Amino acid sequence: MSSLDKNIEELVLKLEEKYKRMGQDLASYLEGRLYEDYVPYWDYIHLDTLLTLQKPKTPIPDEHIFIMYHQVTELYFKMILHELEQISNQEDITPEYLIEKLTRINRYFIILTDSFTVMSEGMEQQQFLEFRMALLPASGFQSAQYRMVEIASTDFINLVGKDYRDQFNHKSDIEEMYKYIYWQAGATVLSTGEKTLTLMQFEKKYNERLLQMAVDYKDSNVWARYKHFTKEEQANQELIGQLRNLDLNVNVNWPLAHYKTAVKYLHRNPQDIEATGGTNWQKYLPPRFQKRIFYPELWSEEEKTEWGKSWVKQQLNIN
Ligand code: HEM
Repeated sequence: MSSLDKNIEELVLKLEEKYKRMGQDLASYLEGRLYEDYVPYWDYIHLDTLLTLQKPKTPIPDEHIFIMYHQVTELYFKMILHELEQISNQEDITPEYLIEKLTRINRYFIILTDSFTVMSEGMEQQQFLEFRMALLPASGFQSAQYRMVEIASTDFINLVGKDYRDQFNHKSDIEEMYKYIYWQAGATVLSTGEKTLTLMQFEKKYNERLLQMAVDYKDSNVWARYKHFTKEEQANQELIGQLRNLDLNVNVNWPLAHYKTAVKYLHRNPQDIEATGGTNWQKYLPPRFQKRIFYPELWSEEEKTEWGKSWVKQQLNIN
């Protein structure tokens, strides 16, 4: 028998064992493979389905860009969550493993932040203003995956609204803290402070699932896993660097690229916004107001006070 045949023989024996373990007959499965088609690229990645998922509500050309870029972003969020899930589940996690995973997540966020110009520069303002009314009350605010990324990244107390955080500590009941989750302050009507339909729809669909996730990640979110390391391991500078990068990417860089776009398309004087029943996005979106920080222990007091400020000044030319 040639060496190739020997290899095949070994593989067949292994397969036979595998199928036997499940009470299955290898010969029947091999016969099935005889007639099976080879899988082409387009079937493997379900391309035809993927390309039918863009369904604009208007004939305005740039609405296609708007939909597809949101879809691309959601796929990146899914890739990020895939990494976060592995961090949470990894047995005997090491600093090297965590560094590797955080590096991937940061890479995805950098791509998302850099590519936000597809939104900020890549659509005609007039077209955007026309089609956006057709998709109300939908808003990226309703992206549950974005919230899931946050829940899996930090201790839940850091997601409590800034004004309520002091009432709680790391041992507080998650269900109690969830009542004060930061996003309750968003998507409210500027003139009355009441919840918009956008917020109410989101809560109805996702509150239960997000709360359950918060409970599930209590001891296995990124920070909890980091704190599980020895003091020596926690002092790993590369690891600290990746954690700080993640904090900046999720809580400053991406939100500011997004905010800058909202300003470009939606900025009008406050009276106009109030008159059209606009939301409080200008008071809600900028990171310097909310100070969402995943890893407060890794920043100096000054860095926390200045959270989000230098970047926004630089990008929006505010002095
Ligand atoms: C022209 C492009 C965009 C504009 C003008 C815009 C505008 C806004 C506004 C005004 C809000 C505040 C909530 C509201 O009043 O509805 C918001 C929230 C949000 N948007 Fe966008 N958005 C754009 C693109 C995107 C994209 C591509 C994504 C990716 C999924 C996204 C994700 C989000 C998220 C996650 C929030 C909630 C942020 C938070 O709670 O801090 N947006 N957006």
